[in-house]
Amino acid sequence: MKRAQSALFDRLAAGDRLYTYPQESLDKLNALVPAKGRTLDVGCGDGTIPECFDADFTAGFDVSFRCAQLARSRGIRAAVADAANGLPYADETFDTIYCVDVLHHLEQRWEPVFAELNRVLRPGGTLAIVEPDARNPFVRWTQAPGSPIRVAPYDNEPAIDPAELTPFLERRGYELTVRPIHIEGEQVERSVFPLWQRLAKAPFTLALAFQYRNQPNKFVILARKQD
Ligand SMILES: C[S@@+](CC[C@H](N)C(=O)[O-])C[C@H]1O[C@@H](n2cnc3c(N)ncnc32)[C@H](O)[C@@H]1O
Repeated sequence: MKRAQSALFDRLAAGDRLYTYPQESLDKLNALVPAKGRTLDVGCGDGTIPECFDADFTAGFDVSFRCAQLARSRGIRAAVADAANGLPYADETFDTIYCVDVLHHLEQRWEPVFAELNRVLRPGGTLAIVEPDARNPFVRWTQAPGSPIRVAPYDNEPAIDPAELTPFLERRGYELTVRPIHIEGEQVERSVFPLWQRLAKAPFTLALAFQYRNQPNKFVILARKQD
């Protein structure tokens, strides 16, 4: 699984960018945690998101070598690491941890990830999680494994309902808020599906996108670790 993810994202990030985001979406992500201090971005991708953080310093890691390389080129102290294995940071290193669009790639191996994030976050620190929201039918069906209108590049990255994640934080005593957020972003590499498949899916995905246009595509969990 880890190898499949790293190979996929090495390929998707072969150019100099993995995704493009409008500035408004980057600003929304940056604003989630106002005083960030020492910040870690989990699954930092090509570094586009952490590059916009106004933090004291920003570290990141990604399972994809190419993503970590691109993130470093954008000034992020990026390492190659697997979120579900031991992380290369000392206990309580970070004041803030962001994790944007990564947990749905982990095939629900969430317990070891939350254990490690809890270890490296300082008491009183904030964990900000953003994920595609399975409660939005457009998001659910374009991400679902085996869906005929899947546009997600990997066939096992279903969108998440926040209620699947909150127990991991509640049992560690975090104070939580969960709310919707709308983030636009475009994958740069479009060759995952052949053109004919993209054309065949387009009427259905566009119709669903239109029907659910007012429903946010993601949720954010802001979790404060106990002092
Ligand atoms: C959908 S992309 C999101 C990238 C970035 N956070 C963003 O939102 O633009 C998912 C990222 O998670 C990384 N990833 C997938 N599995 C991972 C794992 N087990 N450990 C660390 N990173 C992982 C991928 O390589 C990819 O960069």
